[in-house]
Amino acid sequence: MPIVLIVLGMAGSGKTTFVQRLVSQMSMEGKRTYNVNLDPAVLEVKFPASIDIRDSVKYKNIMKSYKLGPNGAILTCLNIFAAQFDQVVKLIEAKKDDIDYVIIDTPGQIEAFSQSASGQIITDSLACTFPCINLYIADTVRCENPNTFMSNMFYALSILYKSKIPLLICFNKIDVLDHSFALEWMKDFEQFDQNLSKVDTYLSSLSRSLSLVLEEFYKNIEACGVSAGTGKGFDKLELKFEKCKQEYYDVF
Ligand code: GTP
Repeated sequence: MPIVLIVLGMAGSGKTTFVQRLVSQMSMEGKRTYNVNLDPAVLEVKFPASIDIRDSVKYKNIMKSYKLGPNGAILTCLNIFAAQFDQVVKLIEAKKDDIDYVIIDTPGQIEAFSQSASGQIITDSLACTFPCINLYIADTVRCENPNTFMSNMFYALSILYKSKIPLLICFNKIDVLDHSFALEWMKDFEQFDQNLSKVDTYLSSLSRSLSLVLEEFYKNIEACGVSAGTGKGFDKLELKFEKCKQEYYDVF
């Protein structure tokens, strides 16, 4: 069975660059990937997409026909596509012996996929058939601010519990800033708390309380550092995928 990798993350975290890098890295290693673009608003898909939502639903037409704003149009496109998603699952099933990984890029705004009914339908229909992993791409540079770090962790947590499939946090852009501080903050509340004190705002007290709650959650997730820009850390991803795949089979 191919492993399905669903790539999620906040706007600008580097999802598309990550998918691009992963696709080319896997192709160099002789791995066969089946790539899916689920962002209807993107002008150009920067990786070879076997399935592209833009072939089925036209973002600009949806905006005009339903008189919607940009985010409403993305959600509507996803809803229309989700209604036909059983066909995508059948297509992947038919090719399952020839594919090692299915790699899925999601829309820029994280909530369009992770908090929508269509995102749930798409994830559930894939997870019923294939081992699935959510790859949460976090911008390491932005995570240097403890409050932004906490927002990312909270998003990742909500995705983990909503989708119920294994989650791997990929701290991206480690060519700019090493992610070791983030791994430390996940392990050691006091380290996180010390850094939080440096940016004392109203939000910090919420982050402080949340970090205590999240201690338990951190034990259930895998994390690693990558640079989609330079390829650093990508050699360690496959081991992480295998570990998450095992977790998937333990649960399902
Ligand atoms: P949207 O879907 O448009 O929200 O963005 P995205 O999450 O797909 O991010 P994208 O891949 O478009 O990257 C956003 C910016 O981050 C671009 O300018 C990328 O060149 C840059 N970027 C992505 N990955 C890396 C990285 O590993 N290192 C550095 N330095 N820049 C990166």
